Amino acid sequence: MTNKSKLWGGRFSEGTAASVEQFTASIHYDCRLYRHDIAGSRAHAKMLAEQGLITREECDRILAGLAEIEQEISDGRFEFKLELEDIHMNIEKVLVDKIGPAGAKLHTARSRNDQVSLDIRLYLREETERLTALLLDVQQAFVGLGRKYLGVIMPGYTHLQRAQPLLLSHHMLAYYEMFGRDRERLRDCLKRINILPLGSAALAGTGLPIDREYVARALDFPSITANSMDTVGDRDFAVEFVFCCTMIQLHLSRLSEELVLWSSEEFGFADLSDSFCTGSSIMPQKKNPDIPELIRGKSGRVVGNLMALVTLIKGLPLTYNRDLQEDKEPVFDTVDTVSQGLAITAELLANMEFKVDNLEAATRAGFMTATDLADYLVVKNIPFRQAHSIVGKTVAYCVELGKELTDLSLDELRRFSEAIDKDVFPVLTVKGSVDSRQSAGGTAQVRVEEALAQAEKDLGMQ
Ligand code: ARG
Repeated sequence: MTNKSKLWGGRFSEGTAASVEQFTASIHYDCRLYRHDIAGSRAHAKMLAEQGLITREECDRILAGLAEIEQEISDGRFEFKLELEDIHMNIEKVLVDKIGPAGAKLHTARSRNDQVSLDIRLYLREETERLTALLLDVQQAFVGLGRKYLGVIMPGYTHLQRAQPLLLSHHMLAYYEMFGRDRERLRDCLKRINILPLGSAALAGTGLPIDREYVARALDFPSITANSMDTVGDRDFAVEFVFCCTMIQLHLSRLSEELVLWSSEEFGFADLSDSFCTGSSIMPQKKNPDIPELIRGKSGRVVGNLMALVTLIKGLPLTYNRDLQEDKEPVFDTVDTVSQGLAITAELLANMEFKVDNLEAATRAGFMTATDLADYLVVKNIPFRQAHSIVGKTVAYCVELGKELTDLSLDELRRFSEAIDKDVFPVLTVKGSVDSRQSAGGTAQVRVEEALAQAEKDLGMQ
């Protein structure tokens, strides 16, 4: 294709070098935006007709042409051309070929600079909704597990050292909260995505009598952007969206790490379903947790995508610069990676089982009720710091004799503090410990039951 026949070819006398066409083209990835590009063009054409900038007939021809093109693309019959650079020009060129002069009027009062911003915003608006639905599936899976295993006690960890006993359901609901914040973050980000950029034109607005509010209504945007320069140079909303996705991926990754640990022989806390594990080509006994490992591994690319976008924006002068074309691949790859991760995690959770006996057995070692003993002494009016030291000495004694706190007799316990009486024994059990933690947000069964019921209500699971 010579430059003369390109949509922007008027001022050029020489053809574009093939290497340049290759280098500047984005059609191999921005073809993903075809539906959004066409939706934007429909609304724009109707506005042009409404404003008398094109006739009704021209508008109808444009709409019919766009409908044909949309069908051809979705059927896989449309031939994308590299030399037409991007999705905007591929569609526009074919429209002109199909319907003639009316097609050539579509780009009136529009630039690819505001057009591409519109396409990305429409795309991200859709993806935000899809990701929100996937997050809900994951949250439901956690609530399901929380309900199924209600009452099961497991060790809680800090520094990956046994710390205090807690309910497995409390652990499941911790993830419910994390993914809930992710949903909220997306909802908030949507406020800044969901603003109409079209009508900013190249950078300074247009002298033609357009109606931006009309286009906003047609495309269901609650408002329009305020400054044409800011609009065509702005990708904050895309960076923010990818950050929201990164947070989701990090949550998935932390969960994956726990699933890998829990399904190891060393922990033996969980059993991932056979259909969600893979084997080894040499070691016949192996059942490997490849899904959580891959999710953990894919965090690198999502974090990388966020870094790519942040770096892309740094140092760009106002307004549009071609650098901004580099926004799409990190955004698309992030959407693909995070949505796959969420979908497979929801399935994996729905198919896994916890090894209840092992969880409970693990609570029997590690002096996990030491804090409870200290709190017991506090109730007996011993200052907490002193109580801490008394219990520290008691634990050291146990370590030396290879005993647990529950193995000690009252006499042995009283060697460390006279304040200890026989009412101490229920305090030293893991059940007593869990039941006592009734502070708001704590792991006591009453609190966890309330939290579960609230989650079920919020997700409409009852
Ligand atoms: N493909 C371009 C992008 O994604 C579209 C906008 C191009 N505008 C321009 N004046 N070259 O950013």
